[in-house]
Amino acid sequence: MDGIPFKAGEIKMNQKKHDLIEEVKKRGEVINKAIEYLIPIKDPEGLYRAARHLIDAGGKRLRPVMCLIASEAIGVKCERAVKAAVAVETIHNFTLIHDDIMDRDEMRRGVKTVHTLYGEPTAILAGDTLFAKAFSILSESDFEAENIVKACRMLADVCVEICEGQYIDMSFENMSLKEVGEEEYIEMVRKKTAVLIACSCAISAVLAGENEFAESLWKFGEYCGIGFQIHDDVLDLVGKEKIGKDWGSDLLEGKKTLIVIEAAKRGIEVPVFGKKKANADEIEKSVRMLEECGAIEYAKNKAKHFVEMGKKELKKLPESEAKDLLESIADYLVSRDH
Ligand code: IPE
Ligand code: IPE
Ligand code: MG
Ligand code: MG
Ligand code: MG
Repeated sequence: MDGIPFKAGEIKMNQKKHDLIEEVKKRGEVINKAIEYLIPIKDPEGLYRAARHLIDAGGKRLRPVMCLIASEAIGVKCERAVKAAVAVETIHNFTLIHDDIMDRDEMRRGVKTVHTLYGEPTAILAGDTLFAKAFSILSESDFEAENIVKACRMLADVCVEICEGQYIDMSFENMSLKEVGEEEYIEMVRKKTAVLIACSCAISAVLAGENEFAESLWKFGEYCGIGFQIHDDVLDLVGKEKIGKDWGSDLLEGKKTLIVIEAAKRGIEVPVFGKKKANADEIEKSVRMLEECGAIEYAKNKAKHFVEMGKKELKKLPESEAKDLLESIADYLVSRDH
């Protein structure tokens, strides 16, 4: 022992009073109960079973939990934010059902994707049902009508941006690695992923008419959301069985992730890229090449960098346990293993 028993970073970690996993779980259970009540399985059962399939398979519930914690952080009772939280999770699930059709993925949350089980036409309808339900649920929130309209407008604008981002993501598949740079990638993931996380963080503040907090929480969520998607792209390569999704899907589909963009800059293009099909050994070999050239490490650091930028946006919020929790979730977004 050289007289230094611990590193500075560890002190902070140990001082945190909360158990993040426990705090997320608690709020996740509230969300699950609310979903059961707000999106019941009814006639025609085939449609509602398809709509609930992914929801019932679990998921981390990060967006609704962030919504509830952001409410607490600005002094809005978390019960009042439950409908908004369910609305953002419902939108999230709608995007996942359609995303899996677009990405031709067969597994999510450890179960078969909706279109794989129920067929594409029903999966499209299940997604559409959730999309519409989200607005219906949000509109029933107990806040001033004027602010509910603002929140609905914000969520609608977010959905438009997600569609733009998803379209850009697909159109990048047909472009070469020389044509898509880091800046284009960041703007694409901001739209397809970060704006919904931003909205999840800001929506309670909008409902409560706390516009200044709404702005800070939006920026916090937006930066963290970019980091979150970069980390998701890393997990597609290194997560394997832990992620409950198709492993290496982005590589096979020729997705322009930050990792392959950076690898290309370093003169590496891996064999399975855009090949649609490959066996586990071939994927493993390509992943190793991305690791060895430093592109995965580069992306991991970028993800952390965005989260640090996000955390700075929380400065204007009063000190509270909820604010500490938001910071811990932000770190979790880019350190999680699934
Ligand atoms: C997956 O999101 C979709 C992306 C935007 C990358 P999550 O990783 O939050 O998925 P679940 O909800 O936990 O399944
Ligand atoms: C998903 O991005 C973004 C949306 C669902 C809008 P990905 O396609 O990377 O998400 P996963 O990896 O399938 O969850
Ligand atoms: Mg996908
Ligand atoms: Mg996708
Ligand atoms: Mg992904």
